[in-house]
Amino acid sequence: MGWGMKNRLSRIIKPDTGRTVMLAVDHGYFLGPTTGLQEPGKTIAPLLPYADTLMLTRGVLRACVPPTIDTPVVLRVSGGTSILGNLADEGTTVSMRDALRMNVAGVALSIFVGSELERKTLLALADLVNEAEEFGVPVLAVTAVGKEMVRDARYLGLACRIAAELGAHYVKTYYCEDFEKVVRNCPVPVVIAGGKKLPEHEALHLAANAVKNGAVGVDMGRNIFQSDHPVAMIRTVREIVHKDLPAKKAIEMYETLAKEKETVFA
Ligand code: 5RP
Repeated sequence: MGWGMKNRLSRIIKPDTGRTVMLAVDHGYFLGPTTGLQEPGKTIAPLLPYADTLMLTRGVLRACVPPTIDTPVVLRVSGGTSILGNLADEGTTVSMRDALRMNVAGVALSIFVGSELERKTLLALADLVNEAEEFGVPVLAVTAVGKEMVRDARYLGLACRIAAELGAHYVKTYYCEDFEKVVRNCPVPVVIAGGKKLPEHEALHLAANAVKNGAVGVDMGRNIFQSDHPVAMIRTVREIVHKDLPAKKAIEMYETLAKEKETVFA
């Protein structure tokens, strides 16, 4: 791995703990103005100081995030579909040239293993890795799960392993039973998505179980920005990810912080 690649990866996965809290706010690329992200700039601003990395699309980055931020960006470069169509039919939406112009720390693309379009999405991943290697940009493979796919260790393990075999530098998947097997069988770091909004205590359990079982962190969206107390939530998730705070203590921490006034972004 070259210097640039290592440098970018270490901006995403923090070398002091080997972990990362990525804030995922890319949902609009297929969901449109989803709850909590109607005005992305207002959602992102108070959370930014607690995110190790911001994961989002080119459009929201340009329109809603000041270029003066210090937070590394992982840019979603796949899309072209909506919730109304065939989600797996994604293509690459951003050139590496434009990604680099935005000074990204990494790029992300979804793969749809098990869908009729798996070959297309896997070859898109391979093409992206080929290009990213030229410029030292780490690639995050997002193991997207279609409605018909089961989120179990066998399926997620298959998707993560294939992503790693094709050269993804790290992989995002879902937490599941026997998650440690998914991590063990994947030779690159694994982060988890939070998935649909859960009660806060369940989301904190999920994050704690994921890191306990080998995830290097989270790339979490809805369970942070759709929470009644997003800042309290991300601050607590940080403690779990970087300090191995156990779930019970994390829930106490969240409840204490939730009582404090949320930072108001004007
Ligand atoms: C969608 C994504 C999202 O970023 C990902 O699902 C994380 O967000 P959430 O925690 O809300 O699931 O990559 O494909």
